[in-house]
Amino acid sequence: MEVLRASGLSKIYGGKAGKLATQALDNVSFKIDKGEFIGIMGPSGSGKTTLLNLLSTIDKPTTGHVLIAGDDIAQLKGEKLAAFRRRELGFIFQDFNLLDTLTIEENILLPLVIDRVPLKVMQAKLQTVSTGLGITDILNKYPYEVSGGQQQRAAAARAIIHDPTLVLADEPTGNLDSKSAKDLMESLQRLNNNNQTTILMVTHDPFAASYCRRILFIRDGKIYTEIHSGDNRQTFFQQILDVLSMLGGNFNDLNSHRR
Ligand SMILES: Nc1ncnc2c1ncn2[C@@H]1O[C@H](COP(=O)(O)OP(=O)(O)OP(=O)(O)O)[C@@H](O)[C@H]1O
Ligand SMILES: [Mg+2]
Repeated sequence: MEVLRASGLSKIYGGKAGKLATQALDNVSFKIDKGEFIGIMGPSGSGKTTLLNLLSTIDKPTTGHVLIAGDDIAQLKGEKLAAFRRRELGFIFQDFNLLDTLTIEENILLPLVIDRVPLKVMQAKLQTVSTGLGITDILNKYPYEVSGGQQQRAAAARAIIHDPTLVLADEPTGNLDSKSAKDLMESLQRLNNNNQTTILMVTHDPFAASYCRRILFIRDGKIYTEIHSGDNRQTFFQQILDVLSMLGGNFNDLNSHRR
């Protein structure tokens, strides 16, 4: 079943009032089926964030269309758009974005509270996602009382608790140490395997990317190539490194990346 279809997406920034125009995306098309775990990689400035913003309804393409669950998202406005974002999408960001005045449990339940889901249903869902992500023991703590890795798994729980059609993650391991990054990626992989959660993740990190089942590489706003994982994650990791070295760009400089 098709979850997302991007057709002929282009994005041109600027070009008005004497400003120089930048073509950030150039005729990008692809589709994502239910249950996929897909990665987007590419050098700095290649258009990854731009693409994610178009897919997540944050920004509009200059030309082209995005269909999610069959809806052309350009047609959604106001309350309909807000409801669509809330129900169909889940977001995981680089810097966790948990609310410090709420406990981990309250943070995770937020999307359901906003949608007035009955308490019993909320508690059942909380149980399922927090077990899956290994955070049942920190539910009553506040974000500042737990580690960055635990915060990010809580953010992942919040992103999936309403069973969204698509989870969008932008550099989710960007602020994590290697152990926490591994825990998070294993958790996302489990979600993907067990619940058929569809995940699209932008990352610079070849290790994180090796958990994906398919990776689209972008260069200069165009899809450069796409690779699929086999059974062995180590082999896939090596394959990713090979493509990255062909692609060029600033990939050795992982830590300087802060966008
Ligand atoms: N709001 C904007 N206005 C003008 N140009 C922009 C804007 N946002 C991005 N760009 C330009 O569009 C191109 C693609 O940027 P984008 O942020 O999508 O790259 P990226 O692949 O996410 O890079 P990074 O890995 O550094 O985050 C770049 O040339 C960038 O300078
Ligand atoms: Mg970016």
